[in-house]
Amino acid sequence: YDINPWMRRGEAVNHAAATHQWQKVYDIYTNRFGWNVQIVPPIAELPDMVFVTDCCLMLDGKILLSNFRFPERQPESTQAEKWLLGNGYANIRQAKHRFEGGDNLICGDKILAGYGFRSDPEAAEELRDYFGLEVVPLHLVDPCFYHLDTSVAILSDNTVAFYPEAIDAASQQRLRKAVPHIIDVTREEAQGFGLNAVSDGHTVVTSDQSESLLQKFRDAGFEVIGTPVPEFRKSGGGVKCMTLELRS
Ligand code: ARG
Repeated sequence: YDINPWMRRGEAVNHAAATHQWQKVYDIYTNRFGWNVQIVPPIAELPDMVFVTDCCLMLDGKILLSNFRFPERQPESTQAEKWLLGNGYANIRQAKHRFEGGDNLICGDKILAGYGFRSDPEAAEELRDYFGLEVVPLHLVDPCFYHLDTSVAILSDNTVAFYPEAIDAASQQRLRKAVPHIIDVTREEAQGFGLNAVSDGHTVVTSDQSESLLQKFRDAGFEVIGTPVPEFRKSGGGVKCMTLELRS
């Protein structure tokens, strides 16, 4: 199926290459960071499950379970709930409005909440009520950057990189006001999915496709680990999409 502009029915994913690229990300997490990585077993009929960040938002052990826009991905919520319950995460609430994990980013004590393609604007209120944090709503306007985490990268609690034109003018202003350090990125740089990044606040792991983007991260003082994920880009995803932070 195709539910975003990157997905093309005729363009098959090379399974061996995808597995290899996934393994590299896993190895960076475990060997370089020493993170405790849990693997959710795949289900053949739900290929987008690999983009596990979309299944929920977890903060302080509280989980808001996604309410997916497209029927193709809706069964993922039930699967995620099963996995979470089976692994000791019991504090789960089902989102009432359309809400996908990939639209939400934690930046310090704020939640950046994208809406427009997958999530509804009303989800912002639900987030505020449930997590008790300030929510910065950002209206996504470019279908190629349909989830917030494709156009905004959290590099640290006070540094964000983003492709401005992916969100409307008022949202750009809100983001610039909410975050002290902002790095602007071009469309060309963003298209390599390097904004779909995972950072511990010092080291950033992301797609190696745009060298100039990685250099911007380095210039801002971050260590950067670039890794190839082109097979995942065919589905509209990158490193961060494959990663759900278990903030318990
Ligand atoms: N094929 C998936 C979709 O369209 C890709 C999801 C990528 N996830 C993300 N958080 N950007 O839903």
